[in-house]
Amino acid sequence: MKTGLETLILPAGAAGAEAAARTLVAGGLVAFPTETVYGLGADAANAAAIAHLYAAKGRPAFNPLIAHVPDIAAARRIGRFDARALRLADAFWPGPLTLVVPKTDNCPVADLATAGLDTVAIRIPAHQVAQAILRAFGGAVVAPSANISGHVSPTLAAHVENDLSGRIDLIVDGGPVKVGVESTIVGCLDAPMLLRPGGLSRERIEAVLGAPLARPPLEAESCDSQPLAPGMLASHYAPRAQVRLGAQDVAADEALLAFGPARLPGVDGAVAVMNLSPTADLDEAAANLFGYLRSLDAKSPRAIAVMAIPEEGLGEAINDRLRRAAVVR
Ligand code: TXA
Ligand code: MG
Repeated sequence: MKTGLETLILPAGAAGAEAAARTLVAGGLVAFPTETVYGLGADAANAAAIAHLYAAKGRPAFNPLIAHVPDIAAARRIGRFDARALRLADAFWPGPLTLVVPKTDNCPVADLATAGLDTVAIRIPAHQVAQAILRAFGGAVVAPSANISGHVSPTLAAHVENDLSGRIDLIVDGGPVKVGVESTIVGCLDAPMLLRPGGLSRERIEAVLGAPLARPPLEAESCDSQPLAPGMLASHYAPRAQVRLGAQDVAADEALLAFGPARLPGVDGAVAVMNLSPTADLDEAAANLFGYLRSLDAKSPRAIAVMAIPEEGLGEAINDRLRRAAVVR
C-alpha cells in the first residue's frame, strides 16, 4: 500500500472545488462531503486512479462503486433509465438515493469501478460542495465512503483524516454531513428492488412508485462472497468494541448508545453514554449514528450496548448498519 502521501486539507469553497477538480484530472484521490457521508472520489473513467482508490481503502476489489454526477443529463450518458427509474430520479434527485441501472453502450465508467458488471450505480448528490466539485471536474466521479474498508462511514472531515491521512491527496472539509447514513440503493433492472436501506426511507420511495419495493433474494444478505450489493457484506460497519443490540440494561464495562427518553438500569455506571436522539427522532439519530459509534468506540469499552430503535423511516437503515456492526468477527 502506498502511504506517506502528503494529504492536503482545504476548506470548502471555490478554491477547494478547483483544487479537487485538478486533483481528479491528475488521477488523484479526493475526499469530499455529500449529504449522506463523506465520499472518497476518483475519476470514474481512470482505471489506475480507481485501483489506487481500492488500495487506499483496503477494499475488496470486487465491490463496485457508485458513480456521482451533477445532473440527470450526465446520469443518462452513463446508464439507461426505464420509466420507473426516471420517476424515482425525478422525485428524489439530487438526494440520498442511488439507482442501479444497465450501462449505456458507451458508458465511460471503467470496468474496474463496476466490477465488470453490465450495470452501474448512479447518484446525484444534493450537497453543494459535492455539486461544485462535480461541475468543476466535468466527468463522473466514483466515490465509496471515505473510510478504511470495514470501518464506520465518516460524517466529519476529521473522521476521514483519522482513517486516510497519508493515503489520499486531498480532503475538502465541508463540516458535518446532514443525513449521516449512506444513500438508499434501488436496483432498477426489473421491478425496483431495495438493495440497501439508507438515507431515503422505503416509505417515501414506495409512495412515488405506488407499489412495494421488491426484496433482494435472501442469499444476497447472508452470503459474503457473492453479495448483490456487496456493501451488504455481513460485517461492513464494524467498531472495535463488540456491539450488543436491543439493550435493556447496561453493564459497568459497557458504553451505551441510547435512543429516546428512557433511562436504562446501570446507565450511571456505564463507561460512556451518548443518546442518538433524546426525543426519539429517527432523522436526528441517523445523522448522529456513525459519529457516536466512533466516539464510544474510542473509549475502549468491552461492548457498546444499543437501545432498540423502531424499524420505520430511517430506522430501517440505522438498524441495518447496527446489525452489521454487531456481527462477531
Ligand atoms: O451515500 C452513499 O451512497 C456514499 C456517498 C459517498 O455517496 N457512498 C457509498 O458508497 O456508500 P459505498 O461504496 O460505500 O457503497 C456502494 C454500494 C455497495 O454496497 C456496492 O456493492 C453497491 O453500492 N453497488 C455499486 N454498484 C452496484 C451494482 N452495479 N449493482 C449492485 N450494487 C452496486
Ligand atoms: Mg462504505
